[in-house]
Amino acid sequence: MSDRTSQYERIAFEDLNYNSYLRVPDLLQLQQLQSDPPHHDEMFFIIIHQSFELWFKQLLHETDLLVRGFRKGSMSRVLKVIKRINAILACLCDQIQLLHTLTPAEFAGFRERLGTGSGFQSVQFREMEFAYGIREEFFLQFFENDPEAHQRLQARADAPSVYDEFLQALHAAGYPVPERLLAGQRTSTHELDEDLVSVLHELYQEPEGNYHWILVCEALLDLDMLVSKWRQVHILMVSRTIGGQKGTGGSSGKAFLEQRVHHRFFPELWEVRNRFFHSPSAR
Ligand code: HEM
Repeated sequence: MSDRTSQYERIAFEDLNYNSYLRVPDLLQLQQLQSDPPHHDEMFFIIIHQSFELWFKQLLHETDLLVRGFRKGSMSRVLKVIKRINAILACLCDQIQLLHTLTPAEFAGFRERLGTGSGFQSVQFREMEFAYGIREEFFLQFFENDPEAHQRLQARADAPSVYDEFLQALHAAGYPVPERLLAGQRTSTHELDEDLVSVLHELYQEPEGNYHWILVCEALLDLDMLVSKWRQVHILMVSRTIGGQKGTGGSSGKAFLEQRVHHRFFPELWEVRNRFFHSPSAR
């Protein structure tokens, strides 16, 4: 879990105003175009990415609160936090569409100035994946020369995932979560567990007294859907901008991204749907 509070610098109360509080002058210095002569659309490209990174920071901040909510067994707090996380994720799905205003010719006008810069190197995006339980060692290589980023990812990898925290809370509330899923630490990505699907199936079938848990399950599923939707709208945007060309990070581009679109944080919450519809003719 990250704790960046030590980085905070307080401002003397008498010096506080809109600009000093939000550090607007500092913020507006952070858009350093690399094209020469400056390409008009590079500013747009930088601002979109920077605003994503700010929202990723907020998502991680909320995720840490979500973990604390699960640990306290406070499901009303958990629901409140997931609601905000999902609102931000929905906003990010829409935000990707801003890039539909960048034509291939405009992007080609400054793309080579990005070098090998790529979303691959977004430590906060990877922290999100790690925090929610998708932990692929492959991605650590992109942070080998950045000890701080590497350390942050390692800390996420060493901590229980959000799914682990959910399962612990479910167990503490008396649900028969399989012991093997309560080990507390997940070094690799969680794999579908049929026994857990059975636990969830029972929970969904007995709504009386369980509604708050069902609401938590559904909110987590919304979160998973929104991340999946983000992956999909990102791929569509990539297709319309660079077609099937390789990415600046060195991957096959669209083809690589399509391999990752099926990742799910909470596979049992998807799988449990199948348990309600046994016959092929069921609708
Ligand atoms: C013109 C705009 C964009 C293009 C053409 C583009 C293209 C790509 C490509 C081809 C990849 C695969 C890795 C590589 O080889 O580079 C990638 C990955 C990624 N991009 Fe973008 N991208 C764009 C905008 C964005 C924006 C605005 C974000 C927001 C932060 C973003 C976040 C990411 C992330 C997080 C990955 C890693 C995805 C994963 O590992 O599943 N991209 N992008």
